[in-house]
Amino acid sequence: MIETVRSVVRFKPIELDPVERRLSRAADVGDLRRIARRRLPAGVFDYIDGGAEDERSLDANVAGFERLEFRPRVLRDVSKIDTSTALLGQPRPLPLVLSPTGFTRIADPEGELAVARAAARAGVPYSLSTMGTRSIEEVAAVSDGPKWFQVYTWKDRGLVKDLADRAAAAGYEAILLTVDTAVLGRRERDVRRGYTLPPKIGLDTIVDGVLHPSWTLGLLRNEPITFASVASNNTASDGSTAVSLAEYMNAQFDAALSWRDVEWLQSVWSGPIVLKGIQTVADAKLAVEVGVAGIALSNHGGRQLDGAPSIIELVEPVAQEVGGSIEILCDGGIRRGSDIVKALALGATGCMIGRAYLYALGAGGERGVDHVLRFLADGMERTMALTGCQQVSDITRDHVTWRT
Ligand code: LAC
Repeated sequence: MIETVRSVVRFKPIELDPVERRLSRAADVGDLRRIARRRLPAGVFDYIDGGAEDERSLDANVAGFERLEFRPRVLRDVSKIDTSTALLGQPRPLPLVLSPTGFTRIADPEGELAVARAAARAGVPYSLSTMGTRSIEEVAAVSDGPKWFQVYTWKDRGLVKDLADRAAAAGYEAILLTVDTAVLGRRERDVRRGYTLPPKIGLDTIVDGVLHPSWTLGLLRNEPITFASVASNNTASDGSTAVSLAEYMNAQFDAALSWRDVEWLQSVWSGPIVLKGIQTVADAKLAVEVGVAGIALSNHGGRQLDGAPSIIELVEPVAQEVGGSIEILCDGGIRRGSDIVKALALGATGCMIGRAYLYALGAGGERGVDHVLRFLADGMERTMALTGCQQVSDITRDHVTWRT
């Protein structure tokens, strides 16, 4: 009897590696978010998780995808699924790009290096932020995968040109110019906490530090967090002094940013340029006129203008107007592979994720990022199979409908 029971009941061996154990239980991005929330100090988690003001655009980005339903086609031989596509003219295994995120080392001491390595393994472009805490060259040294570099328009244009030249020399393929941050949005979770970047280890954070010992040790054991790419430039503060982000960015960045600056960037960067933060059809048309390679429809993850439109709801009107003349990326609210299929059905060329990988990084470091990239790729493949699409070009407008 015992033998019979033994032959049918098989217990999974206990996973001894704590990171693997944690990740094996994370079934979706929501689980990774919950784990990250437990592991990171509250101020750090809120900086990553939060949005501007009432967080309506943050919520709307996610809710937009929930309003879309599939119209699945069946009996279509889905024994072989191919998720590959082209992004900025390069063949890629997935229509996915990792968005630039500031201060990535607050989620994990390896920071941008961990994310870039995981992205390279998945063949997905990694975008390094100007507010990154690892430099252009450090990231290039650990990743021979596709890399993009993000810039803001600093008042000091010489600095932007210098960064662009360094990115070109280090083999970065494209520049993302963030256009939605003329001034910084008001992230009220940070205001309430008096949160500074980099996080101060002072009396006010000691309790948080004790409650999150592995995070605190990681921060103390590693070199200080700075904006690594701009640290060598003496005209810009390197971010090593704790300030409120709004104070820093409003002092350093040029609120006079205009379409002329896009033309200027075209004169100092010969590769593809993507304007990140386009939020209307009218501006998408201007982007085509100015001749950039792509736009990223984005409201900065709901961190800038609260009340900005839900990103997925912008995709179709923009694609109807400029699809075919420019690449349309969409960034905001993507939490599953099925969301990528939805965006493609409405006319996007590809999707970008930010928080999804930051939660993963906070939950399990570099292996967490591998985990979320696999989760998104598997989800996309499964959704394609269940909607009757063998390849990306089979995904059409007919595969989705808005729930009213
Ligand atoms: C932010 C900036 C750094 O959203 O992009 O916090």
